[in-house]
Amino acid sequence: ERGRLLFAAPVEFLKGVVAMAGLPPADRVEICFAGRSNVGKSSLINALTGRKNLARASNTPGRTQEINYFTTTEGPYLVDLPGYGFAEAPVAVVEKWQRLLKAYLSGRVTLRRAFVLIDARHGVKAVDDEILTLLDRSAVTFQVVLTKVDKISKAEREKVIEQVAQALTKHPAAHPEIVVTSSEKGEGVATLRTIIATME
Ligand code: GTP
Ligand code: MG
Repeated sequence: ERGRLLFAAPVEFLKGVVAMAGLPPADRVEICFAGRSNVGKSSLINALTGRKNLARASNTPGRTQEINYFTTTEGPYLVDLPGYGFAEAPVAVVEKWQRLLKAYLSGRVTLRRAFVLIDARHGVKAVDDEILTLLDRSAVTFQVVLTKVDKISKAEREKVIEQVAQALTKHPAAHPEIVVTSSEKGEGVATLRTIIATME
C-alpha cells in the first residue's frame, strides 16, 4: 500500500500558527483538513498517522484554535485547521479564527489540496457550501471526506453520498471522488492515505 510508505516514518508536530505571518516558509506542498467544528478533523489526522494524540481532539466544538502543522518525512505538510460554524468560544475569538481560516484557504500558495470533512449524519450544510465556494474562487482543488460513518446505517450512507455528490456538481474545484471514513473504526483511512501519497 503506497500510503503506508508516506506515513511509515513518524509524523511530527511542527508548529501552531495564529496569523498568516506565522506560516512556515512556503517551501513544500501541503494538504489541509477543513470542516465544521467537531466534524472530526483532528481525529482523522490521528487515524492517518496512527498516533492517538498527535492532533488534539475533543468533544468540545472549537477545540483546535490554531493552524497546526505536522511534518511527514518526504511528503506534504499535514495541516489541521480550526473548525467553522458553531464553537464554544467568545464571538470575537471565533471571528478571528474564521478570518485566519479564510485567508489561509484562499491565500496559501503551497496548498495542494483541501480535504473538506463532512459529517456523514449531516451532509453538506450552508456553511460548508460557503467554504466550497471560497475554494472554487481560489482555485484550490478540494476533496470531500465523509466522517463518522460508523454512526449511520447503510441506507443513510447511500443517501448522504448522493446528497454530497449532487452538491458537488456546482463546484468546479471539487474532486469527484468522495472518501467515506470512520476514524473510530478505521474505515477508509488506508484509502485516504493512498490518495494523499499518490496525489499529483
Ligand atoms: P474542532 O477542532 O473543534 O473543529 O473539531 P474537530 O473537527 O477537530 O473534531 P475532533 O477530531 O476533535 O472530534 C470531535 C468529536 O468527534 C470527538 O469526540 C471525536 O472522538 C469524535 N469523532 C471523530 N471522528 C469520529 C468517528 O469517525 N466516529 C465517531 N463515532 N466519533 C468520531
Ligand atoms: Mg480539531
